[in-house]
Amino acid sequence: MLIDSHAHLQDPLLLPEIEEILKRAQEAGVQTIVCPGYDLESSRAAIDIAEKYPQVFAAVGIHPGNLTDLDRNVWDELADLAQHPRVVAIGEMGLDYVNGFPDKDKQQDVFRRQLELAGKMDLPVIIHNRESHADVLNMAQAIGQLPKGGVMHCFSGSAELAEEFLNLGYYISFAGPVTFKNARRLPQVAASIPTKRLLCETDSPYLSPEPYRGKRNEPARVIHVAAKLAKLLDQELEDLAPILTANTKTLFCI
Ligand code: NI
Repeated sequence: MLIDSHAHLQDPLLLPEIEEILKRAQEAGVQTIVCPGYDLESSRAAIDIAEKYPQVFAAVGIHPGNLTDLDRNVWDELADLAQHPRVVAIGEMGLDYVNGFPDKDKQQDVFRRQLELAGKMDLPVIIHNRESHADVLNMAQAIGQLPKGGVMHCFSGSAELAEEFLNLGYYISFAGPVTFKNARRLPQVAASIPTKRLLCETDSPYLSPEPYRGKRNEPARVIHVAAKLAKLLDQELEDLAPILTANTKTLFCI
């Protein structure tokens, strides 16, 4: 039994087939799925899904790639949504410095507000970080250890960076890229994480693991990520899977 700790089931690539997707997840032994929002609308949609399907839990947040139309009402509404009983985290949030993303000051402001909201609401955070390692770490350190901690989702940094986040109380989560045939550093990084702080996810509909790289992703495929982690740690999947599941339940209080 496994948990997919990060899947965007509300994405238009997945939502029309959600019944089949959840059935395939169940058949693959994926018992629980955490569905993060990436703006207000997708956060509301995550809650709708979590209300309808008992195996799905929602997170609400603003992704750094979705910073249009942020007025004061957004923060009131996000705080309202966060109080919903099916919401287990704030996220996904963070920084993304890939070309074409919004300016860094705006990203940092939105990230900081959400870190503060998580502290106030006593919820863990789900953090996105792409090519922004130093600033994400600086901001996380400036806020300090959050009461309910959080997860570095789809981690792509070095073992040294992972250690800094582990020291701040974060879990480290890996997705499809750890399975990619041309992955060099990432498998070594994954092998350096203590198993009690390790999570697995799909980030569906993106980042399908091998042997499905490039195809639309879905939660059933988290098995391939977990199997790769087990191989890297020189463990049996049947031994690692319950640990990954217990870690996810602890983090999200589910
Ligand atoms: Ni995501």
